[in-house]
Amino acid sequence: MQEVTFLNGKYLPLEQASISVLDRGFLFGDGVYEVIPVYQGVSIGLELHLNRLFKSLEQVQINLNYTIDDLINIVQELIAFNPDYDQSIYIQITRGCDAKRKHEIDRQTLPTVFIMSSEKADTAFSNLIQGKKAITVADNRWNNCNIKATSLLPNVLLLNQATRVGADEALLIRDGKLVEGSRSNVFLVKNGTIITPPLNKTVLAGITREVVIAIAKQHEINFVERNISYEELHNADEIWISSSTKEIMPIVELDKKSISNGQAGPVWQKIIKLYKQYISNVVENTKAKAIIS
Ligand code: PDD
Repeated sequence: MQEVTFLNGKYLPLEQASISVLDRGFLFGDGVYEVIPVYQGVSIGLELHLNRLFKSLEQVQINLNYTIDDLINIVQELIAFNPDYDQSIYIQITRGCDAKRKHEIDRQTLPTVFIMSSEKADTAFSNLIQGKKAITVADNRWNNCNIKATSLLPNVLLLNQATRVGADEALLIRDGKLVEGSRSNVFLVKNGTIITPPLNKTVLAGITREVVIAIAKQHEINFVERNISYEELHNADEIWISSSTKEIMPIVELDKKSISNGQAGPVWQKIIKLYKQYISNVVENTKAKAIIS
């Protein structure tokens, strides 16, 4: 697949896209981002992602000189370079470049707009069902994790604690309660009920999380949003993590102990089938609309 980017008004091959060392994204991690999945050339939840992006921009007071429609058009152009591929679209908006390094925010600084398309992770059912390992770690991030900020050093270091011991994700515990993963939202299943922590400033309002909740409600699968204690997490029948590019993955081992029998559970199997059906429906409907118009 052709890796193409959009940088401040120009479409460029990835290796030709470069920014100034004075960019505040580089100097301070002063920016926000989104990651959008694309299946067979069709983006999933693009408007939901862009709405969240504009919410993040507002929260960090970056005035973007592009509209949602401008960004939709750019994303569609990038996708069209590889129409048949499953892609991952990365959008990063930083506060832009000042004339010298300074902490103060200048409202006149023009934001940097960077959008890149790359190949999406393989989320075939046969791959997901293998399951992943996780560890629990103390959440030491800031108190604005609902903003999708590019300053991800705490997330990177927390994940690294997991990968160093052969695990794939770090589940974050704050005040004795589960919040989310270092790069995912978390669900557990107990006695047939799906449970996920409620949204607040320590949890990102994940788009995949939203879809999972909608699917559970539509299919009358018991679901509740409430706090989950560390002990409850360890006694779960099933644990899953969710994100746009990796879909819904079962955690089969937590802190070196198997979850139930160490295999992907029955509720996950039901939800992932419905989730994949939802993706196929969006792809088919979008393609059908394109043929008609
Ligand atoms: N991360 N929580 C955190 C901390 C995340 O980084 C992510 C996703 C999610 C899931 O959100 P969504 O379902 O909207 O992808 C929750 C992205 C994919 C990333 O950083 O690459």
